[in-house]
Order: sequence, then structure tokens, then C-alpha cells
Amino acid sequence: MKTIAISSFKGGTAKTSTALHIGAALAKFHKKKVLLVDFDAQANLTTGLGLDPDENDSLAPVLQGQKEIQEVIRSTHITRLDLIPADTWLERVEVTGQLAADRYSHEKLRDLLYSLPYDIAIIDTPPSLCWLTESALIAAQHTLVCATPEFYSVKGLERLGQFMENISQRHPLHILGVILSFWNARGKSNQAFLDVIERTFPKKTFKNKIRRDITVSEASIYGKPVFETEPDSRAAEDYLAITKEILQRLS
Ligand SMILES: Nc1ncnc2c1ncn2[C@@H]1O[C@H](COP(=O)(O)OP(=O)(O)OP(=O)(O)O)[C@@H](O)[C@H]1O
Ligand SMILES: [Mg+2]
Repeated sequence: MKTIAISSFKGGTAKTSTALHIGAALAKFHKKKVLLVDFDAQANLTTGLGLDPDENDSLAPVLQGQKEIQEVIRSTHITRLDLIPADTWLERVEVTGQLAADRYSHEKLRDLLYSLPYDIAIIDTPPSLCWLTESALIAAQHTLVCATPEFYSVKGLERLGQFMENISQRHPLHILGVILSFWNARGKSNQAFLDVIERTFPKKTFKNKIRRDITVSEASIYGKPVFETEPDSRAAEDYLAITKEILQRLS
């Protein structure tokens, strides 16, 4: 199984939308068996797939040794796409119960996912460098970096780059690529943003970008990806194209 953590440490860089759409595209159009892991207490990936965080267990009881991981995996309305939901119990899970005393708590998620029968697992992370994010990066072999064409977003990438260097001293982590969302092909500063990213993550920016498209937020209201609500939208086209690029880089 290939495990990919979505990262950025910043809010609103389309991490959750990226996890949802790439996961859905891999399952729907590439016949991959995909596990999405919602590892953010906001639970946006869970609601984005039409599941209620209040009615489903998250990884919290599994991390605490109270449940088996198989008990919290949910199938979704999309064939071959399963989800481990999130809920508010994930917040501060590392300072509670069994985990608080576990010196190797960061390795826990990796060990839990290790033997699951999927082609690809994608872990969505919160917008900060917390225990959940660090655990996701340690559980993954690959990471997809999410950014937006804005000054603070690309500046934040430098910090992310340093942090990943640190992680990769303890654990091999391959940066699969940088995904730019909310892209405006006519943006005046596009080249300046691309240059900053190139300096931090050389040759990593995906050729395809995800353009700004209202259908993305509309689809989340229906708990579905844009492939089902607006299959002819720009967002559907962009997510399909970037999924192909990701598969090429994974192979
Ligand atoms: N390409 C896009 N065009 C327009 N709106 C988008 C696009 N991608 C995402 N959005 C919307 O922007 C908002 C933020 O996206 P999303 O939740 O995916 O970001 P995030 O990085 O996961 O945020 P957080 O840091 O809070 O977890 C959402 O309302 C989402 O529907
Ligand atoms: Mg999110």
C-alpha cells in the first residue's frame, strides 16, 4: 500500500478538497482501492463525503487501544473508496489515555495502517504542525504539499520544507509534489510564486493546477466530489489531470 499525507500547515490551502478529489478519482476512474483517513478534528473530509462525524467513530479510540481499526473504517457511496472519519476526540488525543504515556505515539498511525488491504491511503491533516500532522507524515511514504498562489502561502512553504528535512532524518519521506489550488491562469504574480516554490521544492510543482471553481464548495454541500455533481466543470477536469500526474510520479 502507498500512503500519502497531505501537508501544508496552513489553513485553507485546499488540503481536504485535494484529499477527497484525488481519492475519489483514483477509486472511480483508475480502479484503485483507496482509504481516506480524516485526521483533522474539523472533520471536513468526513462531511465532504456525506458522513456525520457525530455518528461515526474516528481513529481516536483505535489510537487509544479501545477499538480495532477495522471497526472504524466506513465504506462511502463511491465504489472502492473507504473512509476513516474524524471527530472532535482527535483533538488532543495524544495527551489523553494510553497515548499520553507512549514514547512512540508518533509511530502509532503508521503501525495501524501498515497491513490494511488498500492500493493507496490518503491522510488529510489539520492546518497546523501538531501531533496529528507529524504522525501523518511519519505514517506516510509520500506527501503532497498544498499551496495557494498567495504570498503567505508560498512563504509558509519554506517552514514546511525545513520541517520535512527534520522528519526525513528520522523517517524516509518523499515529496510527491506541490499542488497549487485557487489558481488563476491570468494572475499577475504567478511566475513569482512559482519561482519561490521552485527554490524550496525544486522540480516538484505539478504541471496541472487546480483553478478556482465554485463547484468545489458547492459539491461539499451535497457530500460528493465534483465528478458527481458537476462532471464537466473546470475543477473536475483539473483534478482528473492532476491525478494522472500523481499516478505517473507514484509508478
Ligand atoms: N479550487 C477551488 N475553487 C474554489 N473553492 C475551493 C477550491 N478548492 C477548495 N475550495 C473551497 O475552499 C474552502 C477551503 O478548502 P479546503 O477545506 O479544502 O481547505 P483546507 O486546506 O482543507 O482547509 P483547513 O486548513 O481548514 O483544513 C472550502 O470551502 C472549499 O470548498
Ligand atoms: Mg481541511
